[in-house]
Amino acid sequence: MSRLALLSGLVGLSGGLALAWTRPATPRDAREHLVDSLLRVMTLEEKLGQLNLIAGDRDTATVAQLALVRAGRVGGFLGVVGAGPTHEAQRIAVEESRLKIPLLLGYDVIHGYRTIFPIPLAEASSWDTAAARATAQAAALEAGAAGVNWTYAPMVDIARDPRWGRIAEGSGEDPELGSAFAVARVRGFQGPGDTLGPTSVLATAKHFAAYGTAEGGRDYNTADLSERTLREVYLPPFHAAVAAGAGSIMSAFNEIGGVPSTANHWLLSSVLRGEWGFNGVVVSDWTSVKELQAHGVAGSPAAAGALALQAGVDMDMQSSIYADDLPTVVRAGGIPEATVDEAVRRVLRAKAGLGLFDHPYRGADVARERAVTLTPDARSLARKVAGESIVLLKNNEGGLLPLSSRARRVAVIGPLADSHEDPLGPWHALGDSADVVTVLAGLKERAPKGTTLRYARGCAATDTSTAGFAEAIRVARGSDVAILVLGETDGMSGEASSRSALDLPGVQERLLEAIVHTGKPVVLVLMNGRPLALPWAAEHVRAIVETWFLGVETGHAIADVLYGDVNPSGKLPVTVPRSVGQVPIYYNHKNTGRPFSPSDHFTSQYLDLPPTPLYPFGYGLSYTRFRYSDLRLGATPIGPEDTVRARVTVTNVGSRAGTEIVQLYVHDEVASVTRPVRQLADFRRLTLGPGESQLVELAIPPRRLGLYNQDMKFVVEPGWFSLYVGPSSAEGLESRFEVVRKN
Ligand code: GLC
Repeated sequence: MSRLALLSGLVGLSGGLALAWTRPATPRDAREHLVDSLLRVMTLEEKLGQLNLIAGDRDTATVAQLALVRAGRVGGFLGVVGAGPTHEAQRIAVEESRLKIPLLLGYDVIHGYRTIFPIPLAEASSWDTAAARATAQAAALEAGAAGVNWTYAPMVDIARDPRWGRIAEGSGEDPELGSAFAVARVRGFQGPGDTLGPTSVLATAKHFAAYGTAEGGRDYNTADLSERTLREVYLPPFHAAVAAGAGSIMSAFNEIGGVPSTANHWLLSSVLRGEWGFNGVVVSDWTSVKELQAHGVAGSPAAAGALALQAGVDMDMQSSIYADDLPTVVRAGGIPEATVDEAVRRVLRAKAGLGLFDHPYRGADVARERAVTLTPDARSLARKVAGESIVLLKNNEGGLLPLSSRARRVAVIGPLADSHEDPLGPWHALGDSADVVTVLAGLKERAPKGTTLRYARGCAATDTSTAGFAEAIRVARGSDVAILVLGETDGMSGEASSRSALDLPGVQERLLEAIVHTGKPVVLVLMNGRPLALPWAAEHVRAIVETWFLGVETGHAIADVLYGDVNPSGKLPVTVPRSVGQVPIYYNHKNTGRPFSPSDHFTSQYLDLPPTPLYPFGYGLSYTRFRYSDLRLGATPIGPEDTVRARVTVTNVGSRAGTEIVQLYVHDEVASVTRPVRQLADFRRLTLGPGESQLVELAIPPRRLGLYNQDMKFVVEPGWFSLYVGPSSAEGLESRFEVVRKN
């Protein structure tokens, strides 16, 4: 008899209720039977204990915390990791507590557990959702072997403001691209089907919602946006994650228009559960339940807990308010116990869906953890995805890249060239800087025989000393090409790491100018967690690659691209501004009543800058060139429920193989509400040999043609649409089609 069935039976008996044990037809029936049986015998304290999620201390659970587990007052831990500590916590739960309910064991496995992959923003630059699924799957394998059964990822917040440090953790500014990566990562973490095996972990789409619209780009700040923008831009990736079966959703810290997300019944219940049918677990972000007091919507911890639970937050992360304060509130009739039961039911279902009642340890042990961690396969996946994540922003005047074998003397300069820590990026879980292949190490390993590499740091990443410039200039003068590795430290993006400027920190820009002024050819390698506004570099440096933070295989991947073993194919998932003064600036903007016109002063523009970005969404170069031709549409006009199909021929007109990301954008020319000048509707990655052509078919489903009208109903309105197919959001072949109302 399975442990699950045994437990149900025991629970039934121990509850004094002689349950007529009927063999459930399917695992789901067994789960419901078990959940019902448990709920019938749980005390109120045990029920609220299941809703209590607390953080371990330095990867383990403290003695006092384990006592709470024994008393049935803890439903899960975050930050208890490793086969040893997780086994001990789980053992106490399933052997020493009264009802032997296993624990959820959560961790922020954002872009790798120990094998650290590129940060999500970098991975989104690959536009390779299969790669994203693979890295999430690899991360789940390592985390699962270490006893983790729940990750607080994917982060699916759309971000249009690069001052916001958490732009690093998401997939950029576009809802279609963001949705595609949300689905890929959920499926990578959770695997197929709805029963999660030992190599899967429960995924969490976060932070629900509109966290990335923080005013001023300042983390945790107020979000205030229209329901239409919320529904059309910020909710789609969450909806996609839910449709892909995400097991949990994390409520955000921020308010939306006066209502904190963690107390927002409309968001967490009406939309998430009512409209989308989500039946998983909603977990609050860190102490966001407690923070309802700071928001000024709750006058006490108990009031905060009551607001959150009744809004739809099932698990209270780290506030301990549900466990400590709500028993009194429930007993006083402040919250119906049925509301508590519904939250407990969802938590128990999640545990059953993970198989924890039958296999609480899920095969995690020290030997298995060691066997599956940082394997050669994981490293080669990291190297492949890192290479695909690199965006070639500039390479003109005969193409300084790929480095030719004539470059016998190579200067490697900059504070990030030999950094072991920064390439891991923010949120790097158990990533170890000792695992990182630095840029310098990667170049040394790859440089052709006979090449001399000279390294000079030049300056620190953030301080203002220029004492190292002289040595850097000397090393550059003695070289045929200078590779400058500049950017941000890993601590300058991620949570609570917003910047008011988008320049190179410290004196790095001055170092770059000094090296360019030596007259030596310069390759700028950017390592950063957000778009940086570098107009001087864009004008004066011959070659620029954006590498973001690429993880443990940074040096190998960058060397692969700089020496041409990998032809860069990355495309920007975010707009790169000319100046922080342009922010927010994004490609899917509205036309306004006075769109910019160079010949008309009284149009939307700045006195001191062009209104266009430095580099647009979807932009990225290659070592080869692609030509688009022969754009044709399928049968038109179409009805509101139809899908538009577009075909285009893409030809590699260069001399080497390359991967192009073909992008299709639409624009609803006249509608009942204003529409973006373009919005991504489909994309395709394709690899072509030199001279090879391929016919590419792209499709625009109705959901990409629709809008929320003035009654806030989602509709596809009849009328003419413009359609663009090309290599970025700023160029491409054009066509039009009509949507007609079908009678
Ligand atoms: C943090 C983050 C969230 C993370 C959680 C647990 O404050 O906002 O993304 O999952 O707390 O570490």
